[in-house]
Amino acid sequence: MAEISKVGILGAGLMGHGIAQVTAEAGYEVVVREVSDDKLAQGIGKIEKQLARAVEKGKAEQADADAARGRIQGTVHYRDLADCDLVVEAITEDLGLKLEMWREVDQIVKPDAYLATNTSSLPVIDQAASTGRPERFLGLHFFNPAQVMKLLEVVRCVTTSDEALAVGVDYGKKLGKLTVQTKDKAGFIVNRLLVPYTLDAIRAYEEGVGSIAEIDAAMKAGAGHPMGPLALADFVGLDTLGAICDVLFDEFRERRFAKPPTLRKMLAAGWYGRKSGTGFYDYSGEEPTPNPGL
Ligand code: CAA
Repeated sequence: MAEISKVGILGAGLMGHGIAQVTAEAGYEVVVREVSDDKLAQGIGKIEKQLARAVEKGKAEQADADAARGRIQGTVHYRDLADCDLVVEAITEDLGLKLEMWREVDQIVKPDAYLATNTSSLPVIDQAASTGRPERFLGLHFFNPAQVMKLLEVVRCVTTSDEALAVGVDYGKKLGKLTVQTKDKAGFIVNRLLVPYTLDAIRAYEEGVGSIAEIDAAMKAGAGHPMGPLALADFVGLDTLGAICDVLFDEFRERRFAKPPTLRKMLAAGWYGRKSGTGFYDYSGEEPTPNPGL
């Protein structure tokens, strides 16, 4: 199997920074690319904070944290990805933007490198087919926070070669992830099940079944979930959740994937959850409190 030593990560946002961190911690050289110096500095800053926290908590040695940081190179240029063996994209969940990005990256990255998308829901084949190496293309779907969540969905699309799949599985194992292979069906396994559940929680709220706090408390205490569904929606990002709903609804045309009116209105208001400071909860205080505007 091809040896992977240098990994490119496109995007240093909510997912990209975490993927870059766990990849560097596993011993790979990492090049992480963002669109601007500001966004890059934010992403690298988050990695440095998490590495420092791990040392404070005694979960990592200072020398190991320093070495992991030293393996991460930040850039705003695609050209710095040229000699990567594997490139994982974690940019905005928008097919148009992803295709535009691959058009450039596919030209620059060495021809025998593997390419992967961290898409949450878009069929992988649409991106694979836009490159000149669809057999070297696969889905590698991480979960938020990538530093903590054990699962990596490894997605084989119709063109993915056995070798590319094996590279993805091996990379996931080296990161200490549990790899689960899944078919290239919109939403894969987790979002296919998690998204309708989350949307049902929003509908339950709309119907007055319980308040925001009650619905979340009930699912935590009654079903053993680490977070209630509405807190989880904020955590994932309501913009991302909305984008996933649109893809799943377009693909399957089933009501269970349709955006409830409350979600649609929240997105119109620019309430994207934790990342924007407002979602089902207001994050401006010490502790999140249910959003009084809902
Ligand atoms: N980076 C590194 N470590 C982190 C972290 C981060 N971003 N966030 C939390 N942690 C660590 C903490 O340091 C802590 O470590 P220790 O136990 O060693 O102290 C541990 O995780 C637990 O964190 P906290 O004590 O702060 O809080 P918590 O117990 O409430 O856990 C959580 C936080 C891990 C996020 C937990 O609430 C959880 O598992 N929530 C569910 C998350 C989930 O379902 N994610 C999937 C979303 S779906 C998705 O991502 C797919 C998609 O396509 C949309």
